[in-house]
Formats: sequence, C-alpha cells, structure tokens
Amino acid sequence: MASPGKASSRATAVTSVTDDTNGDPIVLVIHGPNLNLLGEREPEIYGRTRLEDIDRMLGELGRKLGIAVETFQSNGEGAIVDRIQDGRGRIAALVINPAGYTHTSVAIRDAISALDVPTVEVHLSNVYRREPFRHHSMVADIVAGRIMGFGAESYMLALRAAASLIERPRVRAGAAPKVS
Ligand code: DQA
Repeated sequence: MASPGKASSRATAVTSVTDDTNGDPIVLVIHGPNLNLLGEREPEIYGRTRLEDIDRMLGELGRKLGIAVETFQSNGEGAIVDRIQDGRGRIAALVINPAGYTHTSVAIRDAISALDVPTVEVHLSNVYRREPFRHHSMVADIVAGRIMGFGAESYMLALRAAASLIERPRVRAGAAPKVS
C-alpha cells in the first residue's frame, strides 16, 4: 500500500475514466514514464505536486470547460501506444507528456499520427534549459502545439489549449433545440 504523502511508485498504469461524459467531448491526458513519481522525483526540476493532484486539478478544470478528462499514466511504451489507439474515434483531443519517450519514440509518434485528433505536447520543465538530448522531440512536428516550463500549471494550460482546438456544434442563441 502506498504510504500517505508519498507519490505512487507503482509501475503499472493508473487510469481514471469518465464513464458518463454527458455528451461532453473527451480529452485524454497521458503521462509517460516516471511521472508516477512526481512530487518525489527531482522536485527542484519537476516541482512538488503529485500526479494524483495534477489529475484531480485537470478533472476540475475539465468540468469548468465542459470537457470530460481521462487520465492515464504508464511507464511502458507499448501501454501508451495501446491507450492512444484506444482513443481512435472516441476522443476529441489528446494532451500528452511522453516524458523520456519524447526524445526517442517513433512508436508513440506513429500512434499520435494515426489518432488524427488535435494533440498538445506538454512538459513540466523547459526542456531547452536542460541537457541537449532533451531538445529533440519525436512528436514536436506532428502536434498542434507544445507547452513547457510551468510545472504542474503546464498541464492546465495544455488542457485549455486542447479545449480551444475541439470543434463543438454551435448552438445559435434563441435557436430551438432539435428534437429527433
Ligand atoms: C519531461 C521532460 C523529459 O525530458 C523527461 O524525460 C521527463 C519529464 C517534463 O515533463 O519536463 O521525464 O517530459
């Protein structure tokens, strides 16, 4: 059992799925490897906010924006690819922090390309202020945009960005609702 106050060090996928979206568009937020250790892992770089707190804040912001937020963390490249594929035809946008896989994964890049929904790449740290190997992203040129350097707040900005990219049916003021 996880001890209170400690980040979850489970290497398995942590998922929260909104079963009943009330018709709200779904935004899937994926956290890559080692992000299950947020709060404990190099806090001088990644901050002290734990992943479960980020996920909770995303859910709250999603409710304000009229978006159903699903969150998923895995340390495995294949599990991340599977989860992206699972979103095909189902989710309206993707927010992803591929973490270490940002710099290496052709498989995650290909899965995002096949998904064909607006995608926002997010990082807690500003990777350009860090080692040169972090300056290259395998997904930078296929995503709608990238947000980095604001710690946990990066995710909130990314969710807002994703929300702004989702096409929603427009209801004209005063228009009678369609009854089918
Ligand atoms: C990270 C940056 C990556 O370079 C690193 O491997 C991570 C986290 C970030 O959020 O700042 O694990 O994606």
